[in-house]
Amino acid sequence: MTKIEKIVLSYSGGLDTSIILKWLQETYGCEVVTFTADLGQGEELEPAQAKAEMAGVKDIRIVDLREEFVSDFVFPMLRANALYEGQYLLGSSIARPLIAKHLVDIAREVGADAIAHGATGKGNDQLRFELAVNALDPSIKVIAPWRQWNIRSRMQLLEYAEKHRIPVPSDKRGEAPFSIDANLLHTSTEGKSLENPAEVAPDHIYQRTVDPVDAPDAPEIITIGFERGDPVSVNGKAMTPAALLTELNGLGGRHGVGRLDLVENRFIGMKSRGIYETPGGTILLAAHRGIESITLDRAAAHLKDEIMPRYAELIYNGFWFAPEREMLQALIDQSQAFVSGEVTLRLYKGSASVISRASPCSLYSADLVTFEESAIAFDHHNAEGFIRLNGLRLRSWAARNGR
Ligand code: ARG
Repeated sequence: MTKIEKIVLSYSGGLDTSIILKWLQETYGCEVVTFTADLGQGEELEPAQAKAEMAGVKDIRIVDLREEFVSDFVFPMLRANALYEGQYLLGSSIARPLIAKHLVDIAREVGADAIAHGATGKGNDQLRFELAVNALDPSIKVIAPWRQWNIRSRMQLLEYAEKHRIPVPSDKRGEAPFSIDANLLHTSTEGKSLENPAEVAPDHIYQRTVDPVDAPDAPEIITIGFERGDPVSVNGKAMTPAALLTELNGLGGRHGVGRLDLVENRFIGMKSRGIYETPGGTILLAAHRGIESITLDRAAAHLKDEIMPRYAELIYNGFWFAPEREMLQALIDQSQAFVSGEVTLRLYKGSASVISRASPCSLYSADLVTFEESAIAFDHHNAEGFIRLNGLRLRSWAARNGR
């Protein structure tokens, strides 16, 4: 085994990463620095501090990354209207490069030669962490205990905890719990009964959205302000990126917006089934498309839609810090210069529907499109020629086919 001098561990304070912490200390016999990020997962972070102290960690980092997460990762992704496989808003995928970036920064600062994470060998997250480290600092080694140790079952994991006096909370004693990943953008739940896609997800899985059936009978009307492609206000009140997403999560959650039950294709090669709750992100996607509908040129909008699946796949597969993602981002960002204005939506029993939009940079011309007499010169004969020329090849084709 290669000699490691110092490790920075991505540490949640939960049972799994507490066991990983111990295992790293034992296996490598070196100092482990813990890094815990507040991404708005809605969990108390003080226990992580206390647990790391108990495990003898001297350098404990707990950092609030909520604003950076939303402004530098979530919003750039939303500018692209990114959806993986047509439906997934990439809530876990987009958080990993941010965590990796901070792991690398801390490793450099404290002179660590390795970083460690708690992602398993079957998932996407290991790729996202490690491809990011490859792109940011190839000299840093990555330790992925789940791929290295010989713990092969939940039982063995709990045995390891007992043996090393790592407290196991009572709700973690039995069978494996759901695998949950939460941040300001979403909550994702996988595992257990969800592994059978033919089985309906139990209602208690949902954590931040009500069942649309139980949502208020009265719709709620909200207005979101955009500037250059990014949301900046809710109901006329200017907000920071993280505050704005938090606000929309509350509004959307109450109206059952943003639930998704999905079978997706993991990069590593298998299908998996997960439940996603992305209330604020779902509202923002609808609103962003709403403001783009009046401010983007047709060809610009269609080009964005063409590259979107490619861009989303890059994020899903872990290529956030890759030249092609940055090239696509530059294209997307440039398209947003005039994407400013206000969108009004109705939240009602699971849906977030755009009901009006307005912009000082609008390309929409009522005068041009009107059925009434128009002040703008539009020669209807031009439409006739336009159709004749577009139909030219269709007429040849039909004649050849004998129609
Ligand atoms: N399948 C999702 C993705 O790859 C979520 C992964 C993490 N979620 C979890 N519950 N462990 O982005």
